Amino acid sequence: MPSYTCPVETVLSEGVRKTVTILFCDVVRSTTLADDVDPETLRQVMSRYFDEMRVVLEGHGGTVEKFSGDDVMAVFGVPAAHEDDALRAVRAASEMLKRLDELNEELDSIWAIRLQVRIGINTGEVVAGDPSSGQTFVTGEPVNLAKRLEQSAEPGEIFIGEATYPLVRDAVEVGPLETFSPKGKRRAVGRLRVEGVDPSAPGVARRLDVPMVGRQRELDQLLEAVARAEEERRCHIVTVLGPPGIGKSRLVAELDASLSGTATVVTGRCLPYGEGITFWPLVEIVEGVGGIEALGEALAGAEDATAVVELVRGALGTAPAAGRSEETFWAVRRSLEALARTRPLVVGLEDLHWAEPTFLDLLEYVLGWGREAPIVLVCLARPELVDERPTWLAPRANATTIVLEPLSPAETEALLDHLRAGTALDDETCNRIATVAEGNPLFVEQMAAMAAEGNGASSLPVPPSIHALLAERLDRLTEGERAVIERASVIGRDFPVRAVVDLTPPDQRPTIQRDLLSLVRKDLVRPSTTGPGPDRFSFRHVLVRDAAYGVIPKARRAALHERHADWLEGAAERPLGLDEIVGYHLEQAYRSKIDIGPIDDAAEALALRAGRALATAGRRASARDDIPAARALLSRAAALLATADADRAELLLELASLSMKAGRFGEVAGLLDEASAVAAEAADRRLELRAVIERRLLENATTPEGSTEADRRIAESVIPELERLGDDVGLAKAWWLLSEADLFAARWGARAEALERALVHARRAGDHRQVATYVGLLGQALLYGPTPVTQAIARCEDFLAEARGDLTVEAGIRSVLAVLQAMQGSFDEARRLWARASVVYDELGLRYRRAARSLIPATVELLAGEPNAAVAELRMGYETLEAMGELGVRSTLAAFLADALCAAKRYGEAEELARVSEELAASDDLVPQILWRCAKAKVLVQRGELDGAQALALEAELLARQTDSADLLPTALETRADALCAAGRLDEAVPLIEQARALHERKGNIVAARRTASLLAAHRG
Ligand SMILES: Nc1ncnc2c1ncn2[C@@H]1O[C@H](COP(=O)(O)OP(=O)(O)O)[C@@H](O)[C@H]1O
Ligand SMILES: [Mg+2]
Repeated sequence: MPSYTCPVETVLSEGVRKTVTILFCDVVRSTTLADDVDPETLRQVMSRYFDEMRVVLEGHGGTVEKFSGDDVMAVFGVPAAHEDDALRAVRAASEMLKRLDELNEELDSIWAIRLQVRIGINTGEVVAGDPSSGQTFVTGEPVNLAKRLEQSAEPGEIFIGEATYPLVRDAVEVGPLETFSPKGKRRAVGRLRVEGVDPSAPGVARRLDVPMVGRQRELDQLLEAVARAEEERRCHIVTVLGPPGIGKSRLVAELDASLSGTATVVTGRCLPYGEGITFWPLVEIVEGVGGIEALGEALAGAEDATAVVELVRGALGTAPAAGRSEETFWAVRRSLEALARTRPLVVGLEDLHWAEPTFLDLLEYVLGWGREAPIVLVCLARPELVDERPTWLAPRANATTIVLEPLSPAETEALLDHLRAGTALDDETCNRIATVAEGNPLFVEQMAAMAAEGNGASSLPVPPSIHALLAERLDRLTEGERAVIERASVIGRDFPVRAVVDLTPPDQRPTIQRDLLSLVRKDLVRPSTTGPGPDRFSFRHVLVRDAAYGVIPKARRAALHERHADWLEGAAERPLGLDEIVGYHLEQAYRSKIDIGPIDDAAEALALRAGRALATAGRRASARDDIPAARALLSRAAALLATADADRAELLLELASLSMKAGRFGEVAGLLDEASAVAAEAADRRLELRAVIERRLLENATTPEGSTEADRRIAESVIPELERLGDDVGLAKAWWLLSEADLFAARWGARAEALERALVHARRAGDHRQVATYVGLLGQALLYGPTPVTQAIARCEDFLAEARGDLTVEAGIRSVLAVLQAMQGSFDEARRLWARASVVYDELGLRYRRAARSLIPATVELLAGEPNAAVAELRMGYETLEAMGELGVRSTLAAFLADALCAAKRYGEAEELARVSEELAASDDLVPQILWRCAKAKVLVQRGELDGAQALALEAELLARQTDSADLLPTALETRADALCAAGRLDEAVPLIEQARALHERKGNIVAARRTASLLAAHRG
């Protein structure tokens, strides 16, 4: 049994968060002064007024919440949300003004009074009573703002807020965006004056101008149904099911285009609300075929024509009396048959999930009784339809069902390609859109539109229209379903049923399975195909999860997350990455809690638990060298562990070191400042010293001048103190720092010794990451120093055997081996080794190391006689470091690059890079100092400036003699020889080349030795 810190009952707090539209309407003036009016009269007048307004508001689905003074407030979206709540509010407002005009005639004639009102409308997130309890009271800032908008209006005006506009923009005419400063508000707010409302347009129009992608098979199925209806001369029904935005309406539009006049295609929409809407689709269908007269003509000659037309008019509401249902059904069937006489008739029925039951009865009747006429009813609906009428999909000979699935990733990409044409959308934004939209074309379209307007600069907000769509679907759920989906949303996109059960109070548990199955039927969740175990489900769409989560009040979120973390920790089978998941839930619990309340003891305890779990997860990621994940986890942990204790200091140091590895130097200094401050406060000397070392390492990379001296000084000062403290982790780093002093001096032998010491301490501390780093560096020292190639290879093979499975160690050693193999002439083997190493750097996000190591493949290619390939590798590394703002290794890469460019005979570029290296290189950093001189000397030789060339080459030679590098001195000697040859001083050149060959031979660099030998032969020849 898990031990719970959070009892299950605490998850039952009241209320929901939801997005609603609020309308305020106030009487501003009556043309007769109130003073003159008898209070009894006034009371009658106002009561008439309120009654009228209430009817209008409720007719549009608004909930009239309060009348205080003369104020009317109505909320659209409680108790249930509709996707068009904002538009309903605006339509209601416009109708209120119209109704008031009529009312004023009446008031004027009776009491000689006329009223004037002003209206404000705003949309936003509020807290409302639980929908199941029928409570509709809403509170929140958007309510106040709606009131302020109303107060800012003149009599007869309607103002909407900026949040409302995007939801209604294709159905309203508005004035320009204005700002005003409401009383008691610090910031000005925007408002738009409504100048007109289209009574039937959707608030956000869908696009048909973008070419259709995919859906060929579905289109073929529809065409096939039309062909069969024609052949069999009877009625067929095709039900197209899918969530909003998946492309149902578009499919019918495409069908119409494909039939290109060989059939009559008309559509009728079912409306979500309104009076007398049962037969509304018929109104549109009759309009579609050319009006009632056209219908009369189609029926011409039939003996029952007049009766049919009259009954249809009755259903449309244009005749005084409507017939009984059976008669209406019969008339509609007769009409459709008549319309299908000369060619097939396709009737698209949009949004059938909103149809009144009687209308569904009508369709079933037409299907069952249609005679001798090719009619295809294409019924478009959301999956909820089936829940409302389970028999709808009962198998029938002349019925087909098409379930529209999301677009494939390739189709989504194609759609985005069309949508982004002519906009400034970049690849990254498009990728994010594709990820979030999950193949829903409407989501793709609207997110792209929003991002293109610049609203999606850094994050990708869910367009309000989509939010409204999803909110409506969720609000239509039963209480039980809603409870299940909410709890599931806290667990995640993918969730085990057992976890939902745990989050549910015992008396509600028995119905969970049933509710889950109905959620599956409504296509909101589905059995999971990815997670382990048989009882897993997942949300059909991530936005459904987000919407379900969004309505949970934060107090309840906090309780649910905490409870779920408890459960996870106590569960018998622990999921992979438990700490990370537990940490996430505790973190969310904490964030929700402090969003709404003070940081009390309970909140602090949560933060601590969360921080510790995330730190554990982060360290584990760091140990497997998953740098990006480790950085993200440790930063979150550090943010949670806000107290100044040693734990936090250590965490910050680890983060600093990870950020170094990731090449994010800009962040490191701040982290180190904080780490030393925290360490000092916590009186932890070890950590303070470690911060000193880390800072020195950072400066090596960013301000290399004088590093040799500083590295030695700092290392020598901290080592004795760390010895006293017995801190192996610190000592390992300190010895490493000391070895860095020999790096600039290119004293590889001494460097190797210091690294051997670092390795001992790192092993003792059990710090695998450090061991890995030092083994890698030691390998390099063996490569560049005097150690003979065969011996270096043997030592590296030992390291490899020891490192079994440690990817970065293996990569480091393979890099070194690559060059060693190339020196022996095994170029294929060398390239293969480097390829294996570089993949690891790429995949682990070690950008800095990958860039610095471009020396490896470059050296291999130079040995192989492919200088252009070497140039390409070095360029890539150089540019990466440049973008990072790195300076330590960049001067070296520039010098190598200059040298490789000379080998490729690209002297112009070589001169430029030699200059860069000369500028960047610290004066004590001998490798670049030697190499840029060699490159520059070669450039000068080409230009015939032989004196300058010889002088530079000599400087290089003298510097190289201070190092124990196996390669630098021969390079300098050959360069000098080159300059001498050009001056015709062959006899002076030959001994230098001989020296170089001897040095190569001593190292065992067979390839280089062979090359110098042939050079000699040429000169002697
Ligand atoms: N296969 C498709 N290719 C391109 N655009 C599509 C496709 N399917 C849908 N769309 C577009 O996506 C939006 C939503 O489609 P729609 O047919 O209105 O969805 P539904 O009727 O299922 O709610 C429309 O703008 C439509 O043009
Ligand atoms: Mg549609």
